[in-house]
Amino acid sequence: MEECDSNCESCATKETCTDPRKEMNEQLAAVSLRMARVKHKIMVASGKGGVGKSTVTVNLARALQSRGYRVGVLDADITGPSVAKLLGVESARLTGGPEGIEPVDSKGLKVISMAFALSGTDSAVVWRGPMKMAAIKQFMSDVNWGDLDFLIIDLPPGTSDEPLSVVQLLPDLSGAVIVTTPQEVALLDSRKAVNMVKSMKVPLLGIVENMSGLRCPHCGEILEIFKTGGGKRAAEELGVPFLGAIPLDPEVAPLGDSGVAFVEKETAAKESFVKVVNGILDELEKTQKAG
Ligand SMILES: Nc1ncnc2c1ncn2[C@@H]1O[C@H](COP(=O)(O)OP(=O)(O)OP(=O)(O)O)[C@@H](O)[C@H]1O
Ligand SMILES: [Mg+2]
Repeated sequence: MEECDSNCESCATKETCTDPRKEMNEQLAAVSLRMARVKHKIMVASGKGGVGKSTVTVNLARALQSRGYRVGVLDADITGPSVAKLLGVESARLTGGPEGIEPVDSKGLKVISMAFALSGTDSAVVWRGPMKMAAIKQFMSDVNWGDLDFLIIDLPPGTSDEPLSVVQLLPDLSGAVIVTTPQEVALLDSRKAVNMVKSMKVPLLGIVENMSGLRCPHCGEILEIFKTGGGKRAAEELGVPFLGAIPLDPEVAPLGDSGVAFVEKETAAKESFVKVVNGILDELEKTQKAG
């Protein structure tokens, strides 16, 4: 193999170089080229599964879209993609165009997910970390996102390959939103997620406490099924903004299953979510001023 210095940009044998770092550099350049056209990139993470990350992702995307922003959703949950279903486009398939892979359109939102590359909704992706990283990279470099105000990135639970890949690929990531539920175990896990984000030097936009109490459909009173308020306390303790609480709302799951975001309907969850969206926008403004 031909010797290459560590910086392919200045390598005199650029055309003939077979150093794998050259290909890597080219791919990273392709990612930066596409992603430079996206103003804000936000990832939605949690320590624990099933706390509502994907629900928060699609509702945040729809809420921003309804405020006139151009929004895309990147489903970085490669092995458990659910964004396509929540946005009502799970039967869509990837298509190529002159500008690369075309994102799927969900009522004006640009969406990319592994779900669009699978043969059926029950097909499984069994991939190790490097392959997942390659898929996420391709979702950034090869997709014709165009100009966007926001790209919302939905992550799988935990603190492993996918968040690390996103952070490595996007040095200008605008920030992370951590979703938690009031149960102590979820809060413990969310502390890990917060610490992961801090250790990666990504701005923490804040914590959202989801499934926080149940609004009684009859009397409107909030029933505390699990002790609520833990998200706020954890946020204070960790020195992270608390973005707000979303109640358990019986309308959320059936709406999600039919591809409708709860912010599209007059739901209890929507009322609380307005504060979360405002909080995220405020934090973005602050981090930008500080940066
Ligand atoms: N506030 C809420 N009220 C009622 N149901 C909710 C609420 N938030 C989420 N759900 C429901 O909980 C389930 C899990 O939500 P979701 O898929 O968004 O979680 P997740 O954190 O993305 O899960 P995973 O870790 O598997 O990716 C879904 O059926 C969703 O509709
Ligand atoms: Mg999810």
